[in-house]
Amino acid sequence: MRFEGKVVLVSGGATGIGLGAAQRFVAEGARVVLMGRRETRLRQACAQLGPNASFVAGDVTAAADCATAVKACLDRHRRLDVLVNSAGVIGNGGVQNTPPAEFDRIFRTNVYGVYELTRAAVPELVKQRGNIVNVSSVTGTRPYANLLAYCGSKAAVSMMTQTMALELAPLGVRVNAVEPGVVRSELHRVTNAVPDYDAFLARAKETHPLGRHGEPADVAAAIAFLACGDAGWITGECMKVDGGRFMTSLR
Ligand SMILES: NC(=O)c1ccc[n+]([C@@H]2O[C@H](COP(=O)([O-])OP(=O)(O)OC[C@H]3O[C@@H](n4cnc5c(N)ncnc54)[C@H](O)[C@@H]3O)[C@@H](O)[C@H]2O)c1
Repeated sequence: MRFEGKVVLVSGGATGIGLGAAQRFVAEGARVVLMGRRETRLRQACAQLGPNASFVAGDVTAAADCATAVKACLDRHRRLDVLVNSAGVIGNGGVQNTPPAEFDRIFRTNVYGVYELTRAAVPELVKQRGNIVNVSSVTGTRPYANLLAYCGSKAAVSMMTQTMALELAPLGVRVNAVEPGVVRSELHRVTNAVPDYDAFLARAKETHPLGRHGEPADVAAAIAFLACGDAGWITGECMKVDGGRFMTSLR
C-alpha cells in the first residue's frame, strides 16, 4: 500500500500503459483520476478500476482541459501527489514522407501535451512535494528510420524529464521517465502504424533480448517504483523498461 492517501493523475489513463499504471496505483491504495479524450473508454476503465477511480474527459494539447483535470483532482480529493504523463500517439514516416500535419499531430500530443499538463500540475505537486513520471520510449534514445516524428518527440520527452527534474528539485518535486520497448496496447493499432500487429508483437521475441514483448503491467511496475518513496533520491532518471531492446543491434 505504497500510495495510501495519495492522489494520482494519469493522462491517457483509459487504455494501455496508462490504465496499467492506474491499476497498480489503485491496488496500492491510491485514488486515481484518469484524463483522456474518449468518454466511453474512460467510463469503462473506471468501472474496471472501482470506486477509487474517476475521470475527466479532455485533451492534453488544450491548456484549459489540463487546468480542468488538475482542478478535478483538487475538487474531488483536495490534493495531487503524482502525475503520470502517458497520453501519446505514434505514426510512421521519415523526413521524405511525413506531412507537416502529421509531424505536428505527433509533436503536439507527445511533447506539447506533456508540457501543458505538467505546467498545470506543478503548483499542486510542489505543495505535496510530489513527483512526475513521463512515459517516453526506447525510441527516444535509439533511432528508427521510419519514425522521424515519434523518435524526435520521445527524445524531447526524455530531455524535458531531465530539465524539469533539475528545475523542480529545489522545490522537492522529482521528475522521472520510463522508456519502454514494444508493449502490447492499442498505440500502433489506432493509426495502423504496423500493418500486421501480431507479426510485430511476435518479432519482439528476436528484437528484445529477454525474448518477449512487454505488457502494460511490466511498465506499470516501474512507474509505481519511480513514483513511490523508495525512489526518493531518484530524479532525472529515464529508466529503460524494454526487455533489453536498447542494447541490441537488430533494427
Ligand atoms: N505500446 C508501446 O509499444 C509503447 C512503447 C514505448 C512507449 N509507449 C508510450 O506509452 C504511452 C502510452 O501508450 P500505450 O502503448 O498505452 O497506447 P494507448 O494508445 O493504449 O494509450 C495512449 C492513450 O493516450 C490517449 N491520448 C492520445 N492523444 C491524447 C490527447 N491529445 N489527450 C488525451 N489523451 C490522449 C489515447 O486515447 C490513449 O488512451 C504513449 O506515450 C506511448 O508513446 C508505448
